[in-house]
Amino acid sequence: MTDTQHALKRAAALAAVDLVTSGMTLGLGTGSTAAIAVEEIGRRLADGVLRDIVGVPTSNATQHLALACGIPLTTLEAHPVLDLTIDGADEIDPAHRIIKGGGGALLREKIAASRSTRWVVIADPSKLVERLGARYPVPVEVVRFGWKGHLDTLRALGAEPALRVAEGEPFVTDEGHYIIDARFPNGIDDPAAIARALCGRPGIVDTGLFLDFRPEVIVPTQAAR
Ligand code: A5P
Repeated sequence: MTDTQHALKRAAALAAVDLVTSGMTLGLGTGSTAAIAVEEIGRRLADGVLRDIVGVPTSNATQHLALACGIPLTTLEAHPVLDLTIDGADEIDPAHRIIKGGGGALLREKIAASRSTRWVVIADPSKLVERLGARYPVPVEVVRFGWKGHLDTLRALGAEPALRVAEGEPFVTDEGHYIIDARFPNGIDDPAAIARALCGRPGIVDTGLFLDFRPEVIVPTQAAR
């Protein structure tokens, strides 16, 4: 990551944290941009600028970070509605449809987004695309049982699928599933049709296509103050 890209991510994160007010229940997203926001929330709590915040982390990694930053945590069971969730993105198209899941946390991220009054998506400008799938594969979270059977389905939809691997082993999500990264060499014509075709199939848990969440998108063009 270049210094400029980091500065733009930081600008996005700080602008999102400016939307946080004391007493809120927050969804805490996953990834390098969301991490900057989590750290800033922790800083503002420590400084007394914010108080009475509780957070619901969208991954084990974010849970560890939030605890290290001194953010009190809760669960969706205790707080079924999140006032505001701040999360990152892998691709954002002009209609604010989004691909997420590069960090493997798409399932919890999507659940959090669906329970949030405001869903704020933060990114540097490299994440803006004209056409979804143009640069980034669609992560597809699948149960392990029978996972290979999804490869032909994905190929039939025009994708080049590959099981995500980390350190030589299949990557396992926080919910215990595998991820198949589906690359669409020419981008995706109809993201909603792809999402419908995949999510109706037994064994597919969800996809990284976030199509109907009406995000508030923050993509700065200038570095943070
Ligand atoms: C995590 O699973 C992802 O959805 C991230 O939010 C996404 O990959 C963006 O990550 P960065 O902020 O690190 O680019």
